[in-house]
Amino acid sequence: MSGKPVCIADFEKYAEKFLPKSVYDYYRSGADEQETLADNIAAFSRWKLYPRVLRDVSVMDLSTSVLGQKVSMPVCVAATAMQRMAHADGETATAKACHAIGTGMMLSSWATSSIEEVAEAAPSGLRWLQLYVYKDRELTRSLVRRAERAGYKGVFVTVDTPILGRRIDDVRNRFQLPPHLRLKNFSSELALSTRKDFGENSGLAVYVAETIDASLNWEDIKWLRELTSLPIVVKGILRADDAKEAVKIGVNGILVSNHGARQLDGVPATIDVLPEIVEAVEGRVEVFLDGGVRKGTDVLKALALGAKAVFIGRPVLWGLAYQGEEGAKEVLRVLKEEFRLAMALTGCHKVEEIGRSLLRRHEVLFSKM
Ligand code: FNR
Ligand code: LAC
Repeated sequence: MSGKPVCIADFEKYAEKFLPKSVYDYYRSGADEQETLADNIAAFSRWKLYPRVLRDVSVMDLSTSVLGQKVSMPVCVAATAMQRMAHADGETATAKACHAIGTGMMLSSWATSSIEEVAEAAPSGLRWLQLYVYKDRELTRSLVRRAERAGYKGVFVTVDTPILGRRIDDVRNRFQLPPHLRLKNFSSELALSTRKDFGENSGLAVYVAETIDASLNWEDIKWLRELTSLPIVVKGILRADDAKEAVKIGVNGILVSNHGARQLDGVPATIDVLPEIVEAVEGRVEVFLDGGVRKGTDVLKALALGAKAVFIGRPVLWGLAYQGEEGAKEVLRVLKEEFRLAMALTGCHKVEEIGRSLLRRHEVLFSKM
């Protein structure tokens, strides 16, 4: 690649070229045959834009709010584990980049920087904790308490990972965290770095099977609801009935997500299930989406279908690989400018004007063979 990256695909090309293969494979991969991985991207193209014209877009306002907190655009950063494999500054660089752009960051439980380090990197930045529920509930509780103390503004509890999905490249590569890194929120035996005997599997898959609670169920969401007064979002909902159940328990938001297509292959693209979830929730809580958001028009389409904001996973990793904090910032800037353009060219000067009438779904037509 020559010259500065100008779109998210350019950042990925850079990352593919310069990251160690096993790291790039871990970040990029989807589960199994990666059908859903491709569909998360392709599905956005099936929704076509019907722009409104003659609407004075000379002054634009891209800002909105997420769980009551103001953000400069409806694009936030999703939890991705082990960001120091992409750049030495890892999650602290992401936190600074988000703060500089005025958006929020969801920190992975499996970050290579601690909850406290990330808070210190950008003290007035907006951040949420992504929670994996450990078999050890005291440990799980302490993660939530640490986030509360460090000024995090919410907990995104991941509900689609009782067991880690099978990422074929990770199995082939016997993926492991590089020895100079560790999962910084945990003491040594849970930090992933000290073990060498993962056998023939992905090291992460073995770790999940040993430590994460596969018995996770709705009672645990009630437990979490009672544990903290922070806003709670369930991350990984794909069905209307599950969304309704979560609302009934008193969560504050639903993140429509298929975990970046890394868990169960063959599930629909998130943009395709968003409308039914939005309908089921009836405006009672905020609905968010992640999965395959790579362009400003993707953001606009998700908002038109009722998402309050979207989250991006891999693009930030590509930005970190490119230039650490500056690279992550650049990724956010690119998406912000693309989103501004998408809004202006569909005749919206503020996000509240982005509505359902801007979109229609075009079915794929197969010609007779
Ligand atoms: C993830 N994701 C994830 N989710 C989570 O709840 N906890 C985690 O630690 C991680 N880790 C993680 C690592 C990597 C490398 C990827 C790509 C993804 C899922 C993530 O939060 C989000 O749902 C997806 O990444 C969104 O899809 P896109 O934007 O990557 O297509
Ligand atoms: C993953 C885990 C960390 O998707 O959520 O790799």
